[in-house]
Amino acid sequence: MDYRIRSLEEYQTAYQKSVEQPEEFWAGIAENFTWRQKWDKVLNWNFEEPRVEWFVNGKLNITENCLDRHLEKRGNKLALIWEPNDPKERFIRYTYRELHEKVCQMANILKSNGVQKGDRVCIYMPMIPELAFSVLACARIGAVHSVIFAGFSHTAMADRINDAQAKVVLTSDGLNRGPKQIPVKRVVDEALETCPSVEKVIVVDRVGWAVNMVEGRDVWYHEELEQVDKHCPAEEMDAEDLLFILYTSGSTGKPKGVVHTCGGYMVYTDYTFRNVFQYEESDIYWCTADVGWITGHSYLLYGPLLSGATTLMFEGVPTFPDPGRFWQVIDKFGVNIFYTAPTAIRSLMASGLDHVLSYSLDSLKVLGSVGEPINEEAWHWYHIHVGKERCPVVDTWWQTETGGIMLSSLANITPTKPSHAGFALPGVQPILIDQEGKEITENEQEGYLCMKFPWPGMIRTTYGDHERCRQSYFSTYPNLYFTGDGAKRDKNGLWRIIGRVDDVINVSGHRFGTAEIENAINQNKHIVESAVVGYPHDVKGQGIYAFVVCGEEAPTNQENLRAEVIETVVDQIGKIAKPDKIQIVSGLPKTRSGKIMRRILRKVAEGDTSNLGDTSTLLDPPIVDEIVKGAL
Ligand code: WTA
Repeated sequence: MDYRIRSLEEYQTAYQKSVEQPEEFWAGIAENFTWRQKWDKVLNWNFEEPRVEWFVNGKLNITENCLDRHLEKRGNKLALIWEPNDPKERFIRYTYRELHEKVCQMANILKSNGVQKGDRVCIYMPMIPELAFSVLACARIGAVHSVIFAGFSHTAMADRINDAQAKVVLTSDGLNRGPKQIPVKRVVDEALETCPSVEKVIVVDRVGWAVNMVEGRDVWYHEELEQVDKHCPAEEMDAEDLLFILYTSGSTGKPKGVVHTCGGYMVYTDYTFRNVFQYEESDIYWCTADVGWITGHSYLLYGPLLSGATTLMFEGVPTFPDPGRFWQVIDKFGVNIFYTAPTAIRSLMASGLDHVLSYSLDSLKVLGSVGEPINEEAWHWYHIHVGKERCPVVDTWWQTETGGIMLSSLANITPTKPSHAGFALPGVQPILIDQEGKEITENEQEGYLCMKFPWPGMIRTTYGDHERCRQSYFSTYPNLYFTGDGAKRDKNGLWRIIGRVDDVINVSGHRFGTAEIENAINQNKHIVESAVVGYPHDVKGQGIYAFVVCGEEAPTNQENLRAEVIETVVDQIGKIAKPDKIQIVSGLPKTRSGKIMRRILRKVAEGDTSNLGDTSTLLDPPIVDEIVKGAL
């Protein structure tokens, strides 16, 4: 069955069916996949525990659906195009047959290094083809992958490895990032000093560096490759067996391991990929996200491969060797569908039009945006200069927890509007809630965005701590999944996302909890206390503003102290969490009960101190004047 929606009427019919008969609707989609055994029941759910099970007792392997089932018709079709960091280095292409073989070999390497079904495997790798092989190899043998973005520090990696009790780590000697090379294996070695669960490390030779190889623990991928078979049967998985864990930040200090399972995630990423981008068989598709984030999982790997698409993976950065790189790559491979983040668009806008105008970009048909609200200026620039006003821009709203796109236009099918995600996808039942917890039914009103019915790609639990999952998403409003975002509908019912309403900030499309950054800063021996807030940033969307209180022994030179704080954050989390501004203060504004008044700090960070509201309940009101005067 062809389940691509082709008109507004078809969208309306599909949406209505998905609400009135959700089980029949999703079963109809799921029929299109290869199952070793069909499900007994489409859905079991309650949002109290929460418990959500899709395709109950269905048996499958997602890689049979990503790879094996395409071999007959698409064996010689390109599955993966890999473009290296340095444009002078040759790109590599893999057909579906070749990718299948690579994945089987990697799966056999994992097996011969002791990995079994259910084991957790940590993948800390740059954007190289072996990263794709690794992810799929885990799925093939039923191991649970936990990809950690290769920009995280050794401390952040160790936390995640220990939380998941990973048995094996897949990594590389180093990585290329624009003009720089970064020693990846060294970071892994440092992390593993505190990770007793890890038995083996498999190292891919990417930059050709001599690295420390621990006898009995570390092995080279290329050496292992010579010893393994090209065939690897896919493990039979239950629809609700774990497929992967992906750590993401919430409003508390410790990142949580979001768990996705095999069956529902498969059906949902494929369905949303085809429909949102209106993917056609011959399209070349490029998603610029790193596989270290959910977008890379769902829309660089799984979604496109499930759909039999050609997906492009790029090792480098948008500004190397110059800010025309994205556009050069689009022309080089004739990319038809391009999916990127607002922060990338804004940074390229800032480097001038010439870089875009020197490329034809004729192949483009659809543009996508993801990760943070796209401001109107960036939307128009993208639409006019990249899409030449010919390509619809799909602004896709979703989360690590949702597994796939939830609110978005379908390219050329449903309406688009700058800064609006559009309608809900079939199967998605959003609801807006007010301060009192009541439903907002009128349009043009802001509220808290929740979901009232499960969808196949949704989070099942937070790894090792189900109560945390309940607390974070299902306890704020009874029987609803709470997204943490504020939103509103326009008069036509198009959704607009306002942004996070919790203590999560979104910096260049990367999620951080303010408490997580505070915990990191507080590790510095000179810091007594800190408070972190987000503020509007032209390129990053939000910047990180830290207020810090230091001890008596702290360096008197403020620049030195700031540099030290930054170093601590880089060490604890990674460069991506570096504060943009650090204000040294003698105290923080607190209520009499000791709670930091973040509202005031946010205003200071935003540069809007004309109306700070009522400060009379503060423990120490004069501190506010000091903070306002010292604002950066
Ligand atoms: C934000 C990324 C506005 C939102 C896929 C959400 C967006 C968080 C959009 C999830 C969008 C994502 N418009 N805001 N199109 N897409 N967000 O888990 O605040 O890294 O809650 O998933 O990013 O970030 P995450």
